[in-house]
Amino acid sequence: MSHETETSRKKVTTQTFLRMKKNGQKIAMLTAYDAVTASVMDESGIHSILVGDSLGMVVLGYETTLQVTMDDMLHHCKAVARGAKYPLLIGDLPFLSYQVSIEDAVRNSGRLLQEGGMHAVKLEGGRERADTIKAIVAAGIPVMGHLGLTPQSVNKFGGFGVQANTAAAALRLLEDARILEEAGCFGIVLESIPARLAAEVSRRLVIPTIGIGAGAGCDGQVLVTPDMLGLFSKFTPKFVKKYANQNKDMKSAFSDYLTEVQNGTFPGTEHTYEMTDPEWEETLRIIQ
Ligand code: KIV
Repeated sequence: MSHETETSRKKVTTQTFLRMKKNGQKIAMLTAYDAVTASVMDESGIHSILVGDSLGMVVLGYETTLQVTMDDMLHHCKAVARGAKYPLLIGDLPFLSYQVSIEDAVRNSGRLLQEGGMHAVKLEGGRERADTIKAIVAAGIPVMGHLGLTPQSVNKFGGFGVQANTAAAALRLLEDARILEEAGCFGIVLESIPARLAAEVSRRLVIPTIGIGAGAGCDGQVLVTPDMLGLFSKFTPKFVKKYANQNKDMKSAFSDYLTEVQNGTFPGTEHTYEMTDPEWEETLRIIQ
């Protein structure tokens, strides 16, 4: 752990998020889908882990997030919860798990906490989700909102492009952000919107905004981990900064392995178990 000592470290909660915004401290969030990655993030001091439905595209090989199910989310939430102790864990509600009825939304949110080990849920949408958010929060479940490019509506948007880049759309997004705050959200993800608009939303809200493709004026940032590690190579949005080139490193490791298996240099003696000569001689004697 690089930023705090083990003894001083406290679990990050939704209250921590609010305090961090008040104190002008930026929140660092990343996505994770498995226990090993979550534990490395925890050891690195990352404040919050989102088990995003981006899972569908960057891990499960789907074209969009629409195919991700509650079962998929629960499977990966459980893994992340086993790997991380301190970060605030947020589970994404997948497509159709909260849009059909408020009852579904409360039940599925509860499952992400009760079975998945999450501390909060995230859902996409603006004013049309206000009643749903109020009902989930009333059940004692913290909710994070998500405005701007909301990937579950990709077919409505016609792609993954920037959102709210007209004055009318910007005004609507500002109103939606205020409505989500009033409905009880503890934070809002702002995805792929102009930086000046995101900064203005952040200035007007008490709850923190977490930006992805929304500039440095947000109260925190989130990136999809296989994007920022340079692992996912199908496409790279403009807002992704690659902090590593895992795709290249993995290809080179896999091709070195292939070569060494084929030419017999792997495994070497240092990777091999042996038995004592007397035991081996005895083995040969009894197997004859
Ligand atoms: O699913 C996801 O990973 C997300 C982030 C892009 C915020 O919603």
